[in-house]
Amino acid sequence: MNDTKQISYAAVVTGASSGIGFAVSRKLTQMGYEVFGIGRNFSDDTLWKEDHVHPIVCDMLDTNRLCDHIRQIKSENRIRVLVNNAGVGYYGLHEELNPKKIQELVRINLEAPMILAQQLLRDLKKHAGYMINITSVTAGKSNPHGCAYGATKAGLASFSASLFDEARKYGVKVVSIAPDMTKTNLYRNADFREGDEEDCYLQPEEVAQAAAFVLSQREGMVITELTLKPQRHRIKKEKRF
Ligand SMILES: NC(=O)c1ccc[n+]([C@@H]2O[C@H](COP(=O)([O-])OP(=O)(O)OC[C@H]3O[C@@H](n4cnc5c(N)ncnc54)[C@H](OP(=O)(O)O)[C@@H]3O)[C@@H](O)[C@H]2O)c1
Repeated sequence: MNDTKQISYAAVVTGASSGIGFAVSRKLTQMGYEVFGIGRNFSDDTLWKEDHVHPIVCDMLDTNRLCDHIRQIKSENRIRVLVNNAGVGYYGLHEELNPKKIQELVRINLEAPMILAQQLLRDLKKHAGYMINITSVTAGKSNPHGCAYGATKAGLASFSASLFDEARKYGVKVVSIAPDMTKTNLYRNADFREGDEEDCYLQPEEVAQAAAFVLSQREGMVITELTLKPQRHRIKKEKRF
């Protein structure tokens, strides 16, 4: 792994306040990037007090504010990496969701990545940069009890593949990382969670390690899709509903 210092480049990570986005932000700072992490609720973790790490409090449902932040970051930094990681998960029978949850799923998981891609593509072209989209293993399969969530992830995977073909000749790398069950708070609204044994889930740091691997390849070779799975598939039913 080549964790070369590249302090003059910046990375924007959405959903940086917890789980996978937090681990990716920490990894990118270790790699020397100036990290701009977007989220609503940042803990007082020491990461956010470091010199080259900038927590940006923003509800990504507010597109105008999100774009204002991006404009500000762009005006002062050379953005080379965009990690579209923010996501929400609502699961269950589709008839039991409601329009607000469906809109939030689509807007955070799919609309926001497409808007950020549009806002940052010229910068990524300038710096032969990377867009890493955190999709999911659900993107490639049928997802009863997660129809809408899976559809947003399939949409994001499709967007990634198309955008890579559109932008590859400009040096841009567009990458889908598709994790399986990862031990984070994503399932807070679900009636299931990862199994207890360590080989039944991924750690957020392992997804961050995969992102670092993608970013460490030589110019001219691009990993466009990575799927990460725990050794065993086991989920646990929660009784809280
Ligand atoms: N955990 C898994 O098993 C798994 C598997 C496959 C893919 N994924 C994907 O991985 C990504 C990260 O999820 P995670 O597992 O790390 O879950 P998580 O800990 O719940 O993180 C979700 C992140 O998204 C942010 N977010 C959600 N709504 C937002 C909003 N309106 N405005 C700004 N930020 C918002 C959250 O920030 P705030 O709470 O501060 O608003 C949080 O930082 C998601 O796209 C998820 O679909 C996860």
